[in-house]
Amino acid sequence: MILVTGSTGTIGSQVVRLLTERGVPFRAMSRRERPGGVRADFDDPASLADAVAGIDTVFLLTVPPVPTADHDIALVTAARAAGVRKIVKLSAIGSGERFDGATVGAWHVSAEEAIEGSGLRWTMLRPPSFASNFLWHRALIQAGEPVPNLVGDSRQAVVDPRDVAAVAVAALTGDAHDGQRYDLTGPDLLTFADQAAILERVLERPVRIAATPAPVQLPAGMITDIGWARAGGAAYVTDHVPRVLGRPALTFEQWVRDHRKAFAAALP
Ligand SMILES: NC(=O)c1ccc[n+]([C@@H]2O[C@H](COP(=O)([O-])OP(=O)(O)OC[C@H]3O[C@@H](n4cnc5c(N)ncnc54)[C@H](OP(=O)(O)O)[C@@H]3O)[C@@H](O)[C@H]2O)c1
Repeated sequence: MILVTGSTGTIGSQVVRLLTERGVPFRAMSRRERPGGVRADFDDPASLADAVAGIDTVFLLTVPPVPTADHDIALVTAARAAGVRKIVKLSAIGSGERFDGATVGAWHVSAEEAIEGSGLRWTMLRPPSFASNFLWHRALIQAGEPVPNLVGDSRQAVVDPRDVAAVAVAALTGDAHDGQRYDLTGPDLLTFADQAAILERVLERPVRIAATPAPVQLPAGMITDIGWARAGGAAYVTDHVPRVLGRPALTFEQWVRDHRKAFAAALP
C-alpha cells in the first residue's frame, strides 16, 4: 500500500490520478476529511502514525509554512516506527548548491539527509519550476495586469507537473529507481519572458511581465533559492524524465494548451 502525502495539491493530485488509472492501491493524505482518504497533519504525530500504519511506500511532499525539514522528519520518524520500506521525496533542483554564502534548498537538503540516514530505501525527485506556477497569476493575466518576474533573464527547463508525478509513480511502484536522485527538467530552457510569449500565443491574449527585483521579504532560504535560479544556476536540461518514462518530457507549450480552460475560467 502506498501513502500519498500532499495528495490534494499540484503534484500529489497527479500522483493520485495516475495510481487510480493504473489500479494501484493507495491511501491519500490530507488535513481535511475526504472520501477514501486519510486525515492527517504533519504537525500531529498521532495522525501521522495512523496514516502510515500498514504502508509500504510513501510519496513525501511537504510545504512547511517556514522552510524547515520538520514535516519531513516527522514523517520519517512515523514511517520507521511503522515499518515502511521506501520513501519517494519531492525535493527541488539545486538543493545543496552554494549561492551567496548559503545553501540552496537547505530545508530539502536536511530532509533528504534525514531520509538517507533512516535506513529506508529512497528516491529523490528534484524538479525546477513547475509550468503550473503561472496559474498563481491567473487573476493578473485575466485582468491584463503584469505578472511579477522574480528570475530576470535567467533560463530554466520548466517541467510539467504531470511528468514529475509520472516519475514519482514509477519510483513508487517499482524498485528500479531506488537510491536515485533525479533532476526532473522539462525539454527546453526558457526565460520567464519566453514562457509569457508562449502563454500569449496559445491563450490569444496579452501576457505582460514586470521586472521585479529579487524579493527581500521572503524567508532567507527562499531568497537564496530564487537568487540561485536568477543567477542561472538552474539553466540546464537533463534526460532524467525521458530516461524514466521512455518518452520525451512534455513541453511548456503542451502544458499551456492543456490548461487553456483554466486560464479562461471564472476565478473562485
Ligand atoms: N512550485 C515549484 O515550482 C516547485 C519547484 C520545485 C520543487 N517544488 C516543491 O514542491 C513542493 C510543493 O508541491 P505542490 O506544488 O504540489 O504543493 P501544493 O500544490 O501547494 O500542495 C500542498 C499539499 O500539501 C498538503 N499539506 C500542506 N500542509 C500540510 C500539513 N501541515 N500536513 C499535511 N499535509 C499538508 C496539502 O494538503 P491539504 O491542504 O489537503 O491538507 C496539499 O495537498 C514543495 O516541497 C516545493 O519545494 C516546487
